[in-house]
Amino acid sequence: MKEGQPTAIQLKDYQVPPFLISETALRIELGEGVTHVTARLKMRRNPESEQQGTPLVLDGAGMELQSVAIDERQLNSNEYGVTDENLTLYDLPGEFLLETTVAIKPQHNTALEGLYKSGDMFCTQCEAEGFRNITYYLDRPDVMSRFKTTIVADKDKYPILLSNGNDVARGETTHGQHWVTWEDPFMKPAYLFALVAGDLQHIEAEFVTCSGRKIKLQIFTEPANIDKLDHAMASLQHAMAWDERVYGREYDLDIFMIVAVDSFNMGAMENKGLNIFNTSCVLARPDTTTDKAYQRVEGVVAHEYFHNWSGNRVTCRDWFQLSLKEGFTVFRDQGFSADMGSATVCRVEGVRTLRDSQFPEDAGPMAHPIRPESYIEINNFYTTTVYEKGAEVVRMIHTLLGAKRFRKGTDLYFERHDGQAVTTDDFVNAMEDANAVDLSQFKNWYSQAGTPELKVDSTYNQSEATYTLSVRQSCEPSPGQQSKQPYQIPFSVGLLDASGGDMAVEIDAEEVSSIDRGDSHCTFVLNVTRPKQDFVFNNVPEEPVPSLLRGFSAPVKLVYDYSRDDLMFLMRHDADGFNRWEAGQRLAVAVIQDMVMQIQAGHAPAVDDKLISTCSAVLEQSREPGVDREMIADMLTLPSEGYLAELAEIADVDAIHRARELVRSEISVQLRKQLLSIYKQNSSNKPYAATGEDIARRALKNLCLSYLMQTGSAEVIALAVAQCESADNMTDVSSAIRALVDCPAEDARQPKEHALKSFYDKWRHEPLVIDQWFSIQALCPLPETLDRVEALLTHAAFDNKVPNRLRALVASFTRNVVNFHDTSGRGYRFLADSVIELNSINPILASRILNPLTRWHKYDARRQQLMRHELERILAIDDLSKDVFEIASKSV
Ligand code: TRP
Ligand code: ZN
Repeated sequence: MKEGQPTAIQLKDYQVPPFLISETALRIELGEGVTHVTARLKMRRNPESEQQGTPLVLDGAGMELQSVAIDERQLNSNEYGVTDENLTLYDLPGEFLLETTVAIKPQHNTALEGLYKSGDMFCTQCEAEGFRNITYYLDRPDVMSRFKTTIVADKDKYPILLSNGNDVARGETTHGQHWVTWEDPFMKPAYLFALVAGDLQHIEAEFVTCSGRKIKLQIFTEPANIDKLDHAMASLQHAMAWDERVYGREYDLDIFMIVAVDSFNMGAMENKGLNIFNTSCVLARPDTTTDKAYQRVEGVVAHEYFHNWSGNRVTCRDWFQLSLKEGFTVFRDQGFSADMGSATVCRVEGVRTLRDSQFPEDAGPMAHPIRPESYIEINNFYTTTVYEKGAEVVRMIHTLLGAKRFRKGTDLYFERHDGQAVTTDDFVNAMEDANAVDLSQFKNWYSQAGTPELKVDSTYNQSEATYTLSVRQSCEPSPGQQSKQPYQIPFSVGLLDASGGDMAVEIDAEEVSSIDRGDSHCTFVLNVTRPKQDFVFNNVPEEPVPSLLRGFSAPVKLVYDYSRDDLMFLMRHDADGFNRWEAGQRLAVAVIQDMVMQIQAGHAPAVDDKLISTCSAVLEQSREPGVDREMIADMLTLPSEGYLAELAEIADVDAIHRARELVRSEISVQLRKQLLSIYKQNSSNKPYAATGEDIARRALKNLCLSYLMQTGSAEVIALAVAQCESADNMTDVSSAIRALVDCPAEDARQPKEHALKSFYDKWRHEPLVIDQWFSIQALCPLPETLDRVEALLTHAAFDNKVPNRLRALVASFTRNVVNFHDTSGRGYRFLADSVIELNSINPILASRILNPLTRWHKYDARRQQLMRHELERILAIDDLSKDVFEIASKSV
């Protein structure tokens, strides 16, 4: 580190801003060498601030200050102070006009924060603190201002000039330049500012709002991608209608624009009226885009659109409140996706993400509450905890209150706080006030880190016909939090009778938040609040099989001693779709864990036949009419190596991999005929459609293919080759290539090289497809992958300045558990080398890909030592960014 250790910012130190900015007028002259930014800020002291006499300290970094004027009078250089991070002004009147002009160099901005170039176009990314790289400003979300922006640029190179709001004036100047002025009528913090300039094309559509207003919808892209925008447009229209129907939220401006850019650090950004998207989250065309990516586009388009209310109209007071907008908006986009497709499949996917990445984060050195207490670099807190666990916390409020009362709460929240910058407490308070409930204990979810554990025991008393669930909750210590207060946990359960139906039994009303009794189900939401609590059900005629934590009603680890027969019973009969899947996962986990122990004891591992016969039965169910085949595919997908590692005290990577592969091989060999038949049954010559039905069919078909290829006979390899060559859609093509690449059979060697080469040749002009080409190779579990991945670093198409490409190779590889954790330590070194190189190019990305190295505590002594060695090596380099420093130093 250059200047000693960077300091941490604390939530408890929050103070209101000492100055306010009512109006912001920007003039941005885009140039090939330098860009000039003139900002005219109408400012005044904040009457609510206690710091009335203090100087004005503006944020600003990486720019050259050319002039400063107060009330049109130019200041001399002795009248202000400039450092690397601030411009300070003294002796100011109560109200004044500040004008600054700075020169910046977007062409050299590889960090992709502030104003930068993505290919030939200019674009911005201001969240969280990027605006300070564009001009001097009070770059904090509780300073909201009305923006007016004039963009000046070369007319031929940048015919399209966009910013937030409405375009109110345009004209031409000398030397082939033109200009456009945009005015945003809504007050907003600087992080929602956006600007785009380029040679862009667009598609256009209309949305008529519930009150009859006509909104113009436009999606912009570089010309090559103009034929990949229709799906995003349809998704946007669906999202707008859904937000009106489900949350009563109407769009406010007359125009809504989306721009697709190649170089982007994250998925997309909700800038007011002008969302900027990573191409990976907006472009879709059947031959280039997989079904999963289609669904992602739909989800991200909705997410960013939903931010217009949950984020923009009501924004965050400070960055500790990030989950206020992100957790809530993820919850909203999950609800949307559930309504657009299969709700159970969406829930399964959500829980997978939570367990595969959020639970590990919550158990590691970077564990933090969804409302963190301190940070060194806010960019490091765009985490799966703030987003996905944040969404789970909102979901629990929804479960506790029920849909109707939850809606009353959001209505009050939006009404009460429209135009304000608020806190997560304000959100919960609105929920409380709208429904006269007390959520004070529930607030522990906002302040405590770690995944709670629920240990459940059951006893049946035949003579009294009672059934008791004894629930104990606990939560491991996390950094800075030794002991935890008990949580309020909505614990959804059902009790199955011998025929598999839900029992409509009785329980003391005080113990439950709600009971959902339907024709074919009966779910109790038990209200867990104490460390130890007994729930007694009455009039229980026979001993039930409990279906616990239905719908994954809380982000907890559930411990209950299920027999394998109980799990098979639940898989078949549980009225709750999520728990049918969950039972299958538990069964697979139990079988694989047994095998891991056998391997560790030096025995030959054996696969429990029950698992194979269950898989066969589930496969057979896919032939029944009306069944959700995507759900079948999910049920037949084994828990990931990452999750299995997470469940272990110390993860034996090699044993887990060997056991899991062996289960896959057994399924492949023993169910070969059935897999082949279901594969064929779900193949189709119909042209591609991204409908739920077809997506499900392809998912099941390709799952069968991947199992079949686990053994890889000549016949099956031929099948994969044929699919690869003849499919009209990327889902089928990439699944076939993946199956070929991952196939351990010697016979697959030549076809896989051939397939990879022709795939590359065919798609080399489609960056998002080439990303898949990199990623498929990086994820291959075979032993030669490390060599291949290292070689790919020097491939002509590899470019670590484009985040998507870097993620496709490096981040994908770190998810390749068995290869990343190779005992030679080469995988760790590979990652650390990337981090070190990236540290000076793009710190946000460098610190994000570093994440897997922070999980060293999960592995054996040798691997721990190797991983920590790489962390130390990273910490020792010169000019370490704040971003990387925070993650590396907190984890060694
Ligand atoms: N607010 C964005 C979202 O919807 C997150 C985001 C996009 C972001 N780009 C960023 C955060 C760059 C930090 C840096 O989730
Ligand atoms: Zn978001």
